[in-house]
Amino acid sequence: MDMDKIVSLCKRRGLIFQSSEIYGGINGFWDFGPLGVELKKKLKESWWRHIVQMRHDVVGLDTSIIAHPQTWVASGHLANFTDPMVDCKKCKGRFREDQIDTDRCPEKPSKSPRECGGELTAPRQFNLMFKTYVGAVQDDSAVAYLRPETCQSIFTQFKNVSITSRKKIPFGIAQIGKSFRNEITPRNFIFRSREFEQMELEFFVKASDSPTWHAYWIQNQLDWFCGIGVGKEKLRIRPHRADELAHYAKACSDIEYEFPFGWSELEGIADRSDFDLTQHTKVSGKDLSYFDDETKQKFTPAVVEVSVGVDRTLLTLLCDAYHEELAPTAEAGESESRVVMRFHPSIAPITVAFLPLAKKIGAPLALVEQEFRKSLNTDFDEVGSIGKRYRRHDEIGTPFCVTYDFQSEQDQKVTVRHRDSMQQERVALDQLKPYLQKQLGNL
Ligand code: GAP
Repeated sequence: MDMDKIVSLCKRRGLIFQSSEIYGGINGFWDFGPLGVELKKKLKESWWRHIVQMRHDVVGLDTSIIAHPQTWVASGHLANFTDPMVDCKKCKGRFREDQIDTDRCPEKPSKSPRECGGELTAPRQFNLMFKTYVGAVQDDSAVAYLRPETCQSIFTQFKNVSITSRKKIPFGIAQIGKSFRNEITPRNFIFRSREFEQMELEFFVKASDSPTWHAYWIQNQLDWFCGIGVGKEKLRIRPHRADELAHYAKACSDIEYEFPFGWSELEGIADRSDFDLTQHTKVSGKDLSYFDDETKQKFTPAVVEVSVGVDRTLLTLLCDAYHEELAPTAEAGESESRVVMRFHPSIAPITVAFLPLAKKIGAPLALVEQEFRKSLNTDFDEVGSIGKRYRRHDEIGTPFCVTYDFQSEQDQKVTVRHRDSMQQERVALDQLKPYLQKQLGNL
């Protein structure tokens, strides 16, 4: 499947636009349109519900994007969060040295780096954190950074949260929020961008229990991905080799997805040992240890991290949902190709569309739609031929379309069309709610 088709559908149907498009765009930044924002919201809600609200051992947090700059000294980002950057002396293309064999030339995407015959500069280490200044005076003492990951404030707030929530180890703290990385080569639509959102859980455990919890969270996340409709056969687990582990990690496994551009990291699940709490204790001078009431012992917990990008998961959902197929037309024996986004009903931007066959008979259906709007994402669309309206809703992945026709005026029944099978059923208007509730299950 072609990535360009997904990018084009996202623009055509109001899911994702290039940021600052009217000014020629800005590389590595994206805007989410009316349907994209709904999809993203449902995705985040699903994760939050699964990770925080459905569990008694995880609590949530929402911290500021700009933190005290010492945070990044303690975490190691100031010293280590760098990528090796090289430039082509001939075409001026810029690359990450460690991705040179798999990258494309930004100047001529049909070519690979060095294909132009240009010599590369020696690699320079480039820190990916965006720098800014806090306050009116822009000197060195005012330097701050946009966070490159959401988890560090979970560590710095560990004591406050564990005391106020009265949680006992093992327990976790989760956060969803924006992160920023000045990527050398933003690539593959929203896969690698400079501003993105992360969903991170830091699960604090006794060091001896961390391998068990590491395995638990890998399986838990695989189950969650499958639960929101991602095909199992397109997911795999890739444990990191010792030589590629991040400086903080004792072990790490990526959940990878088979994107149109190949298998790539979707999520990282890492055993971070007690690195983070120890580092923040050292740099801040504040004790971040945990007191175990039962054993009367004080210790610094280890942490298992579950870290996934919202945008990258969204891209996974888009790639997984995209299908092109032949569909019958109104003419007997004729067919035409249709694009259908087979989103899981729980995350589809619109759950039910209400489509009166003609404007003049739409009023009763508008009243029904108003009622459904209270609990579901709905759309009321009375413009254009019914065939075109079905195609539009196929392309945005609406699982159910409800049509009100001239016969409905007589028999008080509507036609429910199922997105995937395109089958249609007549349902009494007063039975529509239980009918759809049954179809949607416990969403
Ligand atoms: N706290 C650990 C951490 O941030 P990471 O592997 O650098 O680990 C975790 O990032 C996840 O965040 C990735 O698996 C990916 O889903 C997402 N992510 C990282 N960089 C990204 C980028 N530039 N654009 C979009 N998503 C990104």
